[in-house]
Amino acid sequence: MTRTIIRFGVIGCGLMGKEFASAAARWCHLTEMDSEPRIIAVCDANPAATQWFKDSLSSVEATYTDYREMLANPNIDAIYCAVPHNLHAQIYIDIIEAGKHLLGEKPFGIDQASNTLISEAISRNPHVIVRCSSEFPFFPGVQQMVQWVEENKFGKIIEVEAGFWHSSDLDPTKPINWKRRIATNGEYGCMGDLGMHVLHLPLRFGWKPKSVRALLSKIVPERPDGKGEIVPCETWDNAILACEVDTGGQQFPMVLSTKRIAPGHANTWFIRIMGTEFSAEFTTKNPKQVSSLPYSPGGVQSWHSTDSPYKSAYSTITGAIFEFGFSDSILQMWAAFCDELAHPTEMAQPFYCATPEEAAASHQVFTAALESNRTGQTIALHWEE
Ligand SMILES: NC(=O)c1ccc[n+]([C@@H]2O[C@H](COP(=O)([O-])OP(=O)(O)OC[C@H]3O[C@@H](n4cnc5c(N)ncnc54)[C@H](O)[C@@H]3O)[C@@H](O)[C@H]2O)c1
Repeated sequence: MTRTIIRFGVIGCGLMGKEFASAAARWCHLTEMDSEPRIIAVCDANPAATQWFKDSLSSVEATYTDYREMLANPNIDAIYCAVPHNLHAQIYIDIIEAGKHLLGEKPFGIDQASNTLISEAISRNPHVIVRCSSEFPFFPGVQQMVQWVEENKFGKIIEVEAGFWHSSDLDPTKPINWKRRIATNGEYGCMGDLGMHVLHLPLRFGWKPKSVRALLSKIVPERPDGKGEIVPCETWDNAILACEVDTGGQQFPMVLSTKRIAPGHANTWFIRIMGTEFSAEFTTKNPKQVSSLPYSPGGVQSWHSTDSPYKSAYSTITGAIFEFGFSDSILQMWAAFCDELAHPTEMAQPFYCATPEEAAASHQVFTAALESNRTGQTIALHWEE
């Protein structure tokens, strides 16, 4: 099949920049894509960070330390930007104003004011396609849950719980990095780091909280700086948000949690939806399984755990009997983004990447959560229709 080549530049050659490069290098895994990313340029303020890309990808034609020079390259169609949060607003705005399509990393601005500036740049450049990275909904078990929500299988929703839990920061001797400093990560702390992952599906389903009561915790107050000193660890480690959802048709409580210090959990993303007629649960802790409990009045209450087949949004060479993992979800997210760039109104499947509107809504929730934690009050959220 002839594929439309989308020429990409990567800004930020750290952990996530490499994940994209690795997904692009594995594009042959996808069987029916008629578009393909080609990373032709990479940029990092630290020139050493680009070396892995030069060694690993034969497509890289140019490296930069100043992203503005890269944006002047007329051969680049689209950018993936994965830099610390304090740089999101300026760099995303410059990308959008340069007319390049953008997959930007969450939280899409260090705070709500920065996020608003990004949204304004998008409004000025409606021809540019902008999406926010969020890969977990592409797990086959989650896609199954999306289908159940669309089919209104749950009856009256009783409650929803969604979370993203880590335990890497349980170790107090782990040196601090930019993700634990307010200046670079933001006041949101763990919510900015992990929260968009948790809110993506509820927002896609239209479950915007009408109010939020937040409990934010700082558990490890200081950490080594890696240079022999102990320095303050300023950001929130864990957050529990008790939200009230009123969609018109449905009213229910929704508990969202983002935790950096959750003993026993490494990258555990989960969603649980309990309803009067059907309940369902998925967790990356057990990535093959999706559990469901159909119920009819007076009937038995019995959970069914099914090994969900490797049935991804975009078909692959992998057989249905095999397991789906984190890097597969990244590949599927990239397939969705490239598909949308190639066919903005006719994607091959309906699940598109997280939108700037969804990212903006997540900022509204996190900003209200900070206020709730500060005041001890439940904060009402007002949504523009
Ligand atoms: N989707 C996910 O699952 C996921 C996971 C981790 C991180 N992230 C997000 O990805 C983004 C980056 O996180 P990371 O873990 O890759 O961080 P990282 O620290 O590994 O990489 C960031 C890179 O940006 C570079 N950089 C800093 N200033 C720059 C500038 N002015 N111009 C160009 N490059 C610059 C740094 O040198 C570094 O190489 C963040 O927004 C983070 O929230 C997403």
